[in-house]
Amino acid sequence: MDTPVISDIVVRPSTEIDVPAMVAIYSHHVRNGLGTFDPEPLHDEDIKRRRKNMMKRRLPHLVAERSGMIVGYAYAVPFRKRPAYRHAVKHSIYVHPDHLRSGVGRLLLPALIEACTAEGFRQMIGYVDAENQPSQQLHEAFGFHQAGLLQGVGYKFGRWTDTLLMQRALGEGGATPPVEPPADENYSRAT
Ligand SMILES: CC(C)(COP(=O)(O)OP(=O)(O)OC[C@H]1O[C@@H](n2cnc3c(N)ncnc32)[C@H](O)[C@@H]1OP(=O)(O)O)[C@@H](O)C(=O)NCCC(=O)NCCS
Repeated sequence: MDTPVISDIVVRPSTEIDVPAMVAIYSHHVRNGLGTFDPEPLHDEDIKRRRKNMMKRRLPHLVAERSGMIVGYAYAVPFRKRPAYRHAVKHSIYVHPDHLRSGVGRLLLPALIEACTAEGFRQMIGYVDAENQPSQQLHEAFGFHQAGLLQGVGYKFGRWTDTLLMQRALGEGGATPPVEPPADENYSRAT
């Protein structure tokens, strides 16, 4: 993957050293926003384990770094576990609270799209809270459309929340059959 450098932000694959910074960013959003519905902040070991599982399946896990500091991260996981869904991913993106609206998401999301496309995935799906205007606008800016609205499926901060499904095709999308990954046990996309 090319490493895009625009202004002072670099987007690159994450390493294990980045884990505590990612945990700190995630914890903030668990406590304060509708960007995630995990009930509790995660621990370093949780993200380390998730990261390793994703790497085994060649699923991208990226960070944005600004002057040596991790200011955001984004990753993709299988859309669903059953093998027939193996060419679709769902993704997440989180930006450091002190660096919101400063162009980090605008770099991370296209880098993730590019990395997922390069791995041969054909569809990308984001679950976005219906009140999460920043995320909706970011996704629309990068070609995602609203594929559905799930009403009352979340409960956070004492109220029910709606979830938008935001989707975009990658590469040739559904226009051509997929290229199957090598039949290598370590490269199984299905879990
Ligand atoms: C959603 C999120 C990733 C956007 O990242 P960001 O780095 O702040 O966004 P950027 O500065 O790169 O802005 C890119 C575009 O996103 C949209 N956007 C970002 N912040 C916005 C805001 N507060 N209000 C409306 N649109 C916003 C705009 O379209 C913006 O383009 P513009 O600045 O040209 O108008 C960030 O707000 C975030 O981490 N939120 C908390 C976690 C979360 O909700 N993650 C997504 C889960 S689905």
